[in-house]
Amino acid sequence: MPSEDSIQSIENSAAQVIEGTDSLAGLEAVKTQYLGKNGIVTEQLKRISSLPVEKRKEFGQALNRIKIQIAERIQARHENLERAFLDQQFRDQSIDVTLPGRSGTLGTIHPISRTLRRMEQIFDRLGFRVAEGPEIENDYYNFEALNIPANHPARAMHDTFYIHDHGLLRTHTSPVQVRFMQTHRPPIRIIAPGKVFRCDSDVTHTPMFHQLEGLSVDSDVTFADLKGVIIHFIHEFFEAEPKVRFRSSYFPFTEPSAEVDMGCVFCGGEGCRICRHTGWIEVLGCGMVHPEVLKHGSIDPDKYTGYAFGLGIERLTMLRYGVRDLRYFFNSELSFLRQF
Ligand code: FA5
Ligand code: MG
Repeated sequence: MPSEDSIQSIENSAAQVIEGTDSLAGLEAVKTQYLGKNGIVTEQLKRISSLPVEKRKEFGQALNRIKIQIAERIQARHENLERAFLDQQFRDQSIDVTLPGRSGTLGTIHPISRTLRRMEQIFDRLGFRVAEGPEIENDYYNFEALNIPANHPARAMHDTFYIHDHGLLRTHTSPVQVRFMQTHRPPIRIIAPGKVFRCDSDVTHTPMFHQLEGLSVDSDVTFADLKGVIIHFIHEFFEAEPKVRFRSSYFPFTEPSAEVDMGCVFCGGEGCRICRHTGWIEVLGCGMVHPEVLKHGSIDPDKYTGYAFGLGIERLTMLRYGVRDLRYFFNSELSFLRQF
C-alpha cells in the first residue's frame, strides 16, 4: 500500500509544479493533471477499495487532506496570477493625464489666395467690383473677340492648351472683358481674378498661374486714369513706392499698349538669373481697350473709351515676399508654405 511518504511526495511535486506555472491556462492543466477525473490524486482515491479495511480510513484521510491542500494551492496561485495579469494590464493601458495633448496641424490660407484677397480689397476701395468667367473657354472669347483672328502672330505668344476643336483652357483673363461688356452697360469698373493656363515653365513661369484682369469703360476714360490706378495699386500693395516703369508694348486688344515692369528685388536692379539680367521683372500688361473689342462687347467706340490691364498674381507675390522661384507656390511643400 502507498505510504504516508509517497502521498507526501505527490503533495510536494504538486506544490512545485503549481509554483512554476505562470499562466492561468497552464494552471488549469495542472488542476486536471492532479485532481481531474483521471488525475494523479483521483487515481490514488480509486485504489482505496483494494486496501485492507483497517488501512482505508487513514489512507483516505491522508489523500483527502492533500487533495484539499492542492486545491487550495491552485486557488491561491490562480488569484496571484490573476492579480499579476490585471496589474500588467493596468500598467500597459495606463494614461498619463498630465502629458500635454498632441495638437493637429491647422491649415492656413495659401499665399496666393491671401495675396488675391488683398488685391481685391485694394481695388474694392477704388470702386472695382469682382466679375468671373469660365476657365474652359472657346476660341471666340479667348482670341477672336480680342482682335486675335486665326493665324494672327499674337497667338504664338500664348502657348495654348487645346481641349478639342474650339475648346481651350483660357490663356489669360481678358476673355472676361468681352463677356462682361456683352451683359452690362457702362459705366463698367470690374476686376476678374482667376486661373489661367499656358504650356510654360521656368523660374518666373508656371503652366497654371493667376491673373487679375481690370476693366474700366466710361464716356471719358483716359490712359492717365489707367496709369493713376496702376501706380496707386502698386504703392498700396507693396506698402512702399518701389521702382516701376511703363514700357510701350503691343497687344491686339489694346491701343496704345504698355507693359509694367518693377525693379528686380533680388539683385536690386543689377541683373540676375531671375530678371534674366535686365534688372526688371514684368508684372502686368495694359492699354486702352481697342475699338474692335468694344464693338464685340456691343459698346459704341464713338461714345465710350476704356482701359484694361492684366496682372500676374504670382509675379507680384514673388516680388513682395522675395520668393526666388515661382514654382515653389505650387509644390505643396509645407516648409515653404508655413513661412507665410
Ligand atoms: C496678357 O495675358 C494680357 N491679357 C494682359 C493684358 C490685359 C494686356 C488687358 C492688356 C489689357 P501677358 O501674356 O504679358 O499679357 O501676361 C500678363 C502677366 O501675367 C505678365 O505680365 C506676368 O506677370 C504674368 N504671366 C505671364 N505668363 C506667366 C506664367 N507662365 N507664369 C506666371 N505668370 C505669368
Ligand atoms: Mg507680357
